[in-house]
Amino acid sequence: MVNLRYDHYCWIILSLILSLLLASVEGNQHPQTGHAVVESKKKCASLAETFKLPNTKILLAEYVENGTTINLQNLDPTCGSPNITVNSNICRVSWNTTTGYKSGFRFEAFLPIDWSGRFVTLGNGGTGGCILYGDLDSTAKQGFAAVDTNNGHDGDHALPFFHNKGVQQDYAYRAVRMSARQGKHLVRAFYGKSARKSYYVGCSTGGRQGFKEAQDAQIHFDGILAGSPAIDFNHLNSWGASFLPITGSNTSAGFITFDQWTGIIHDDVLRKCDGLDGYKDGIIEDTLKCHYTADDLLCPSGSANRTDCLTEDQVKIVNRVYSPMRSIKGEYLYPRIQPGAEGFEAVIVYLTGTIFGYSDWQKYVVFKDPNWNASAFDPANYTKAQELNPFGIQTFNGDLSAFRKNGGKILHYHGNEDGIISAEISPRYYDLVSKTMKLAPHSIDQFYRFFRVSGMGHCGNGQGAHFIGNSQANLGPTNEPEDSVLWALVRWVEKGIAPDYITGTAYVNGSRDTGIVDYQRKHCRYPFSNVYQGKGDPKDPNSWKCIYPQGYGYGHGHPTKSLLS
Ligand SMILES: *[C@@H]1O[C@H](CO)[C@@H](O)[C@H](O)[C@H]1NC(C)=O
Ligand SMILES: *[C@@H]1O[C@H](CO)[C@@H](O)[C@H](O)[C@H]1NC(C)=O
Ligand SMILES: *[C@@H]1O[C@H](CO)[C@@H](O)[C@H](O)[C@H]1NC(C)=O
Ligand SMILES: *[C@@H]1O[C@H](CO)[C@@H](O)[C@H](O)[C@H]1NC(C)=O
Ligand SMILES: *[C@@H]1O[C@H](CO)[C@@H](O)[C@H](O)[C@H]1NC(C)=O
Ligand SMILES: *[C@@H]1O[C@H](CO)[C@@H](O)[C@H](O)[C@H]1NC(C)=O
Ligand SMILES: *[C@@H]1O[C@H](CO)[C@@H](O)[C@H](O)[C@H]1NC(C)=O
Ligand SMILES: *[C@@H]1O[C@H](CO)[C@@H](O)[C@H](O)[C@H]1NC(C)=O
Repeated sequence: MVNLRYDHYCWIILSLILSLLLASVEGNQHPQTGHAVVESKKKCASLAETFKLPNTKILLAEYVENGTTINLQNLDPTCGSPNITVNSNICRVSWNTTTGYKSGFRFEAFLPIDWSGRFVTLGNGGTGGCILYGDLDSTAKQGFAAVDTNNGHDGDHALPFFHNKGVQQDYAYRAVRMSARQGKHLVRAFYGKSARKSYYVGCSTGGRQGFKEAQDAQIHFDGILAGSPAIDFNHLNSWGASFLPITGSNTSAGFITFDQWTGIIHDDVLRKCDGLDGYKDGIIEDTLKCHYTADDLLCPSGSANRTDCLTEDQVKIVNRVYSPMRSIKGEYLYPRIQPGAEGFEAVIVYLTGTIFGYSDWQKYVVFKDPNWNASAFDPANYTKAQELNPFGIQTFNGDLSAFRKNGGKILHYHGNEDGIISAEISPRYYDLVSKTMKLAPHSIDQFYRFFRVSGMGHCGNGQGAHFIGNSQANLGPTNEPEDSVLWALVRWVEKGIAPDYITGTAYVNGSRDTGIVDYQRKHCRYPFSNVYQGKGDPKDPNSWKCIYPQGYGYGHGHPTKSLLS
């Protein structure tokens, strides 16, 4: 007892000393013009002279004050706004690194003065050559030392890949991998110590880059946030180029119009599949359960020029759009567009009857022919890209054991209404991991969790509760783990609390600008699927339940034995 009291007494004294110390530290840091800021400015500027990396030329090292708008010199016009307003006090560092005799990448770091000790490497989007300044700013503001690159070329197009293997290699994996290594050195140089945790964040091409790092496990990441991933990349590219020959050009006779896709076809999809989750709200919770064909939309014989039904040829086209891409030998190559996506993104991306912009990859990398004819791309050509597979860009290796051994966690999400990258590729990858590693979901859950987000398009947008905090453009109401997949991942990594679902928010009129939450929905982790319980307000997430699919083994769609029994 006496000892206990004595301990207690010592503890109070110690706490007092500690709080006095802390108060004096805070006092020193506060006014923004204080000593700490002067030191940070000096330290930041000095990096231009003191920080050295091989084959690297430092372009800039400067302190940027919260609220400053910086101009982004020589930004490629496909990369968005030529300036950005910075929302925290940062040390901004940028450099060029040469990776080969005709290749190299541009690097940017936003190092917040108010640092949480966390480091994040960001990926890219599309054909890759744009630094995501908005996400650098957003993650720096949330306390991360953040880095990103132009992925080895400037601009969102494939011409730089033409007869240039070095640029292809940077894009396949090298720019991300090198920038993560470089970024870790930079963190030590600027803050005087290593980051306590390292993260990777990316969507689309960025999702593929994240999985590439998980599959190759060359760099230590404690957590990887990977969305709508462009995995199975070569088939994805062939798939993207396959639609124009299927739909025909927008001037061809009988071309299925925007109004038909978003009208009669979308309505028919919803009529057949919206209710499968127990509630009709225009949003299909589990698109894997929807086996759609347009056969019922066939016009009665004898009717001509009607737009409220489809001709035989049109029915065939729609059914092909909702079938997987197969090789001429009939092998399954890439999943169909997910039903529901036609009403929104796919119709303006793949079903336009014009050349899909990203078929540039076929032109400059696969066929190496600037006069490549996108209209003539036929099933005999579907496998060419995968045969080439430059620098292992396919990114479809189901063995994550090295990553798991390093203690890493992956949080993977995909919007069901994604009209650019079929959402079905994600459960296919999960199942591949399950089969390759011979693990059932409860074991995979230890290091890799995948969430299907209903009502979400490509990395954002959509008709439903899609604000999940994965990017600056798609933040939820708070940056708490309940509203943000990034912070759900941080909590999993740092506190061991794994997310069983992720919460998405829908705002009134679909825009965060209104600031008024319409409803939230808890998006289930795969293979669970979200089902309305038949009573209660459907806008209340608790009126829904995540249901485990009966008989699910390790391989959806493959009648393998269930590991669960
Ligand atoms: C930033 O760029 C936009 C164009 O995207 C322009 O309208 C605006 O004036 C620029 N702002 C500053 C401060 O340069
Ligand atoms: C940046 O400045 C704004 C406006 O003064 C302020 O609301 C915000 O908290 C500051 N951000 C940081 C990270 O200090
Ligand atoms: C840095 O590299 C980019 C290409 O990524 C190039 O356009 C630019 O001229 C280089 N800048 C310098 C200063 O070397
Ligand atoms: C077809 O697409 C082209 C290229 O986007 C466009 O200029 C044209 O207006 C479209 N024509 C029709 C009939 O929609
Ligand atoms: C259908 O459209 C075609 C081409 O516009 C026209 O030649 C034909 O007369 C139309 N048929 C009927 C029954 O309206
Ligand atoms: C492209 O291919 C289509 C379909 O095979 C063909 O009709 C068209 O003439 C070709 N265009 C050129 C410029 O070769
Ligand atoms: C398809 O493949 C054939 C055979 O390799 C090739 O000659 C042709 O140019 C390819 N066509 C397209 C449009 O990719
Ligand atoms: C939502 O849109 C409707 C129709 O445009 C408008 O009347 C309403 O004021 C909007 N609500 C909010 C909160 O902005």
